[in-house]
Amino acid sequence: MSAVATEAGIGSKVQVTYRPSGTTVRVPTGTTLFHAAHWAGLPIESTCGGRGTCGKCAVRIVEGDAEVTPADHRHLAERLDDGWRLSCQAEVRSETVCDVPALMRAPKAATMGVGRLVLLEPNVQQLLLELPPPDLDDHRSHHRRLLDALEIEGLEVIVPPALLPTIARVAEEGRVATATVVGDHLVAIAPGDESARMFGVSFDIGTTTVVATLVDLTAGATAAIASALNGQAPFGADVIARMGHAMSGDDAIAELRDAILATVNGLIDQVCGAAGVEGHEILEAVVVGNATMLHLLLGVDPRSIALSPFVATFLEPQDLSAADAGFAIEPLGRVALFPSIGAYVGADIVGDVVATGLAREPELRLLVDVGTNGEIVVGNRDRVVATSAPAGPAFEGGQILHGMRATEGAIEGVVLERGEIELQVIGGEGVAPRGICGSGLIDVVAQLRLAGLLLENGILRSRDEAVAEGHPLAGRLIVLGEGIRAFELAEGVVLTQLDVRELQSAKGAIATGIEVAMDALGVRTADLEQVLLAGSFGSYIAPQSARVVGLVPPVPVDRITAVGNTASEGAKMALLSFREREVAFELPGWIEYVELSGAEDFNDRFIRNLAFPALESVR
Ligand code: FES
Repeated sequence: MSAVATEAGIGSKVQVTYRPSGTTVRVPTGTTLFHAAHWAGLPIESTCGGRGTCGKCAVRIVEGDAEVTPADHRHLAERLDDGWRLSCQAEVRSETVCDVPALMRAPKAATMGVGRLVLLEPNVQQLLLELPPPDLDDHRSHHRRLLDALEIEGLEVIVPPALLPTIARVAEEGRVATATVVGDHLVAIAPGDESARMFGVSFDIGTTTVVATLVDLTAGATAAIASALNGQAPFGADVIARMGHAMSGDDAIAELRDAILATVNGLIDQVCGAAGVEGHEILEAVVVGNATMLHLLLGVDPRSIALSPFVATFLEPQDLSAADAGFAIEPLGRVALFPSIGAYVGADIVGDVVATGLAREPELRLLVDVGTNGEIVVGNRDRVVATSAPAGPAFEGGQILHGMRATEGAIEGVVLERGEIELQVIGGEGVAPRGICGSGLIDVVAQLRLAGLLLENGILRSRDEAVAEGHPLAGRLIVLGEGIRAFELAEGVVLTQLDVRELQSAKGAIATGIEVAMDALGVRTADLEQVLLAGSFGSYIAPQSARVVGLVPPVPVDRITAVGNTASEGAKMALLSFREREVAFELPGWIEYVELSGAEDFNDRFIRNLAFPALESVR
């Protein structure tokens, strides 16, 4: 081995080249060769999930260097001098070139997320173990005998004391046993060759909605999906209200925790019922959600997130037993929480980034998750910046005269053409419109702009002006009490001048966040190859309308894609691939978090972004 570059500083990136494929990737110093390879889409053999115990991930370093670890000594003793290292232990410090042996087995793969090919290697595995019976020359305990048998399979696991009675039974019954392992925890042991079904469940815990996906870990397929309103809703509609309730003390935090656990366990019941699965067959849960929701799920006081300097108690990934977490799955099973990027860019956004591959592909992409808080991520495999913008409740129908959530009777889409108004109402034809939801709000404002009834500065034109011009929709312009202008969408449903102001303020905050993040990255609108609208709300926004109101930069409309609930998809991918999970857990270290309120010119930018884009730029 020879050093080809001076050692890079902490936090800087270095290039790793894998032979014979010639794959290269730039990673922060300290990343392991194993994870860097996966990041670059190059799988390296492993059965232990990168824990340094299976010895299968050896690579030969030909340029660069990596410290020899105790695990290297255990598995590679005579090969160390030739440059062989366990790639999962070898952290890169300088430019590195290494040889990668071909995969001994080709794991199954499936396309998930946004066109991502994922190797199906769940964190949950079942192994058939040989357990030699004790004799007078071998006094190892049954427990030790089991640990040794697992080590032969390349696994060092933690055995919960609750399994000791079962281990005694297994030892009595014969030489063979089936062990079920989640990560480095033994969760079940049974005598004989007893391979059983294995399921996992992913959760996207939103402030409003919780989505559960039951996954068959053997088949690599979704078995059932269910969603429900977050049971914390009676304590407040948004994150701030929930934190307000939490401020009343420990009992209130416990109440909030009980409420979300009731929702989680109700959903587990539902997906199990739909797929004919027993709760104890679910061995692992992976959870994403915003930082406040994850705090409340664990009963942790979230108040510090609300108060300056806006610090979370934890952003790091968490791993706990299902019994401790209160999840109604196999009690010894595990519950893993994705990490968050910042107090206001949560684990759900990490899920989005995993599912879209935004931080691993060469294309420059912007991802926007629109809600009361707009989360923004922009970048590519070289560098990624994230921020969050306080959009307020307008997109959820809050502060809008006839605003409502996206439920039956909500206007979700609007077309104004040749003097006609065409409304898309949730529930379909025959359902009378009762109000406007977020996507309808964006649509109607965009349509009013395009129809020439709404000026760039957000002022609705007067009926008199429109009549004088002979505008076919002039009759829809009305004046409410106190002289407030409004546009009548349907009987009893209007959009007021004040509603337009609320939308301007919400989209202005998100547009400012996008601008600050793009500036931090040093890129311009013309550089963006794709704009992804994520989150359940993002899926319903018409790309052209998002562009016309200035919610997203004015890229050609075919570059704007609604990608759906990618947060859930990211969690599901982590259930099915330990490699994707590792990427998720490392992502916060890769992504630069920009605090929007720290941007000196935030107010100036925000005021500038209140205006709508000139029509010539967005038609
Ligand atoms: S030792 Fe198993 S992946 Fe490295």
